[in-house]
Amino acid sequence: MCGIVAYTGSRNAGEVLIEGLRRLEYRGYDSAGAAILNSGPPYVARAVGKVANLERRVREDKPLGTAGIAHTRWATHGKPTEPNAHPHADCTGRILLVHNGIIENYQPLKKKLLALGHVFHSETDTEVLVHLVESAYAGDLEAAVQKALLQAQGTFGIAVVHADNPARIVAARRGSPIVLGIGKDESLAASDVAALAQHTDQVVYLEDNEIACLEPGQFRIKTLDNRAVDREPTLLEGGREAAERGDFPHYMLKEIFEQPEAVENALRGRLNHSEGVAKLGGLESVFDRLLQARHLIIVSCGTSYYAGLFARYVFEALTDLTVETELASEFRYRKLNIRQNTVVLAISQSGETADTLAALREAKRKGALVLGLVNVVGSTIARETHAGVYSHAGIEIGVASTKSFTSQLTILVLMAVLLGRSRDLSYEQGERVLRALELLPEQIREILAGAARVRELADKYCQAGHFLYIGRKYHYPIALEGALKLKEIAYIHAEGYAAGEMKHGPIALISPTFPTIALAPEDGSYEKVIANIQEIRAREGPVIGVTTHGNSRLHSQVDDVIEVPSSHEILTPLLSVVPLQLFAYYCAVLRGCDVDRPRNLAKSVTVE
Ligand code: AGP
Repeated sequence: MCGIVAYTGSRNAGEVLIEGLRRLEYRGYDSAGAAILNSGPPYVARAVGKVANLERRVREDKPLGTAGIAHTRWATHGKPTEPNAHPHADCTGRILLVHNGIIENYQPLKKKLLALGHVFHSETDTEVLVHLVESAYAGDLEAAVQKALLQAQGTFGIAVVHADNPARIVAARRGSPIVLGIGKDESLAASDVAALAQHTDQVVYLEDNEIACLEPGQFRIKTLDNRAVDREPTLLEGGREAAERGDFPHYMLKEIFEQPEAVENALRGRLNHSEGVAKLGGLESVFDRLLQARHLIIVSCGTSYYAGLFARYVFEALTDLTVETELASEFRYRKLNIRQNTVVLAISQSGETADTLAALREAKRKGALVLGLVNVVGSTIARETHAGVYSHAGIEIGVASTKSFTSQLTILVLMAVLLGRSRDLSYEQGERVLRALELLPEQIREILAGAARVRELADKYCQAGHFLYIGRKYHYPIALEGALKLKEIAYIHAEGYAAGEMKHGPIALISPTFPTIALAPEDGSYEKVIANIQEIRAREGPVIGVTTHGNSRLHSQVDDVIEVPSSHEILTPLLSVVPLQLFAYYCAVLRGCDVDRPRNLAKSVTVE
């Protein structure tokens, strides 16, 4: 949702900003705009719809300038129209501002500003901010922004410029991310590293209630209450190439193929074979409290929620903890029974999902120890949890989570081994999981090498209007995840079901035109899943079976088979999800869908 890019340097700002917005397109938006500064009055362009519409305008106008700000807006207050698109300007047109987040007290502020004679041109909450800056401006933009923000309630990530000092950008955050990129003789600010990565690998994450002043190649930070902040740039994970698509036609496919490395990164330095245990440095500071833990509640949304469901089975198998998994959007409104030995684990790729953040804040308020499993370094969830683990999957741009999911599952298994070994999990049991984990990257490579077979199946089935995905135990969450992938990318209605639930309703749907993907690895649940497959076949439903190598028995029971390598029972889901991701991807491509920018979706859901 909403994206910000700001640039000051010596290059053509229009080109840098449009390119930056393109890299933020995956976040979801419905209008875009940019302001470019030089020594004259600022150039401003806005357009409804795709960044390409804005680009066309900027190309025609050819504005000169080496600094500016740009934005993609996902409408909240006011429709997606040109006047509502950012940047918003003050009454003089010399101050321009872009904003992510929501200003909760914008109505009383607007009333006050209108009474003072300010003229508004949009229906947005954002516009009050630029008029507040105007009211406070006395020659120093940074001081004016600081003063204005102290009156604002709600969340913001902003970038502001003033025509009086065109090479200076002021950026600030509270609850909505801003990251600075510092290059040689140029500086950038953005809501997401994806917009910076091609320019520099030196990044600085702003924290809540901080304000930054950027000039070419330089930056300084202080808090909104005026304390100087000394922070050095850090090296961007994955380097400058991290946000490049390379030879892949879509980011989603690239990220599916990056899973072997993502799992390797999740495991790097985290296996202690001599003790059959995992090493997770991020949990060391709270390890004493973890030893006392009896009750684990996992909160998350979407794909991250399915990772949590998977974790429930794994933690129950490897530890003595009682585990609950809850959708963050539900958890935040429940009456919680948090006890002294309750631990809450928030799982999030982006680290910015509003519901997950609200859930963890609620759990903290109630006294729980709150942990995070997050991919984006420095994100809000990563900073607000008491302790946690980064998944190190690298930048994920495709809206559909793929490599972040397999990384999450990997880390969750490591966490379960760590906690299990301090309870009654034996060295042999722990070590067996660790050894199997190490084989995963190569096994995923093997599955990816067979992608053409999955494409053939997509070709055969992609015109079906509905799909059912079934699985049991560790594979139940994978059935849900496979169905979600197909829905969000290929726009095919799909339901994920616990295989044992079939006869309680969904079996009524089965017909020759209603295919089922059945997850049937040879594990403890195999015979039960086979019984469910037979029930479907008896009603003439086509079945694609996903099973482990060498299981020739399944071939006669289903229409088509996809095989994945055998692994530890707990880890097979990390393998069987890969063909499901590929299947959704190829179905989407064959149906002409916009894989990296699926309709109505945003990569990071920062509103409730
Ligand atoms: C998955 O493909 C989705 N795009 C979505 O369900 C996502 O997993 C969810 O919005 C949670 O995001 P998070 O992991 O960044 O918190």
